[in-house]
Amino acid sequence: MIRIDGNIAKLREAVRCLRKGSGSIGLVPTMGYLHEGHLSLVRKSISENGSTVVTIFVNPLQFGPNEDYEAYPRDLEKDCLLLEKEGVDIVFCPKPEDLYYPDHSTYVVEERVSRDLCGASRPGHFRGVCTIVLKLFLLIGPDRAYFGEKDFQQLQVIRRMVRDLNVPVEIRGCPIVREKDGLALSSRNVYLSPSERLSAVALSRSLKAAKELYDSGEKNAGKIIGCVQEELLSDPALRVEYIELRDAEELSVLETVDKPAVLALAVRVGKTRLIDNVKLGEVEA
Ligand code: PAJ
Repeated sequence: MIRIDGNIAKLREAVRCLRKGSGSIGLVPTMGYLHEGHLSLVRKSISENGSTVVTIFVNPLQFGPNEDYEAYPRDLEKDCLLLEKEGVDIVFCPKPEDLYYPDHSTYVVEERVSRDLCGASRPGHFRGVCTIVLKLFLLIGPDRAYFGEKDFQQLQVIRRMVRDLNVPVEIRGCPIVREKDGLALSSRNVYLSPSERLSAVALSRSLKAAKELYDSGEKNAGKIIGCVQEELLSDPALRVEYIELRDAEELSVLETVDKPAVLALAVRVGKTRLIDNVKLGEVEA
């Protein structure tokens, strides 16, 4: 595995060599502190492509002024060992100054899919995500790029950006990897105290109950959301930011679940903000 710590010319050269060698290139963008969720994307990329590039970059542009950019967990050495073991070809781990000029003034803004849900509670977040992801696409030129359904809105925003800007990359969505008790894996789970960790199970438990309600025939969005609300409001350790049932593609509001949909939520457990979601009906992966 070649590790490139920030030199863009080196990255381009290494990618050129890969391209000459072995078929398609898969890209897995991450912010590091890797867990089995990230590794599931890496494994899918390795299985579908001749070579795989992983990026590790805590992107300051997608964090708000009062968010956890500084505190975001980092362990670059361990991440690189894990990626080496998986058989990744290149890991690119730049620092902010490698990617952003001090007077950086160009951004990518998606204006519809990114508007509500996390976009409403984290102004500027998806602008930061789209900008870095397009930069990585331009730097690496992958044939396919892998994103988790854990961040369902992010996945659909990126699909829309790629469609609208004719970016020549295939976006591949990957299912959510969970702990045994249902909690979706997240780098931010390390912030949870033992009692918060117990409370956090309610997110996936309530989504599961709502999906069962849907599968048993309930199609009324209000009733399905109510089922989640009831469960989450019963624990005072949880502060609900949003519970939304949206059409799965544009994330527009649905009163009745008559097409593929996603039930998504964001909840604060103490100081930690967690998100989770479940698909209702068939949704393209
Ligand atoms: P990060 O939170 O590190 O996540 C990197 C990728 O791993 C994302 O596509 C995310 O959806 C996926 N992922 C995280 N937890 C997962 C889980 N439990 N199951 C399946 N996939 C999971 O998302 C970002 O970084 C950044 O916004 C990024 C796209 C890298 C741009 O900076």
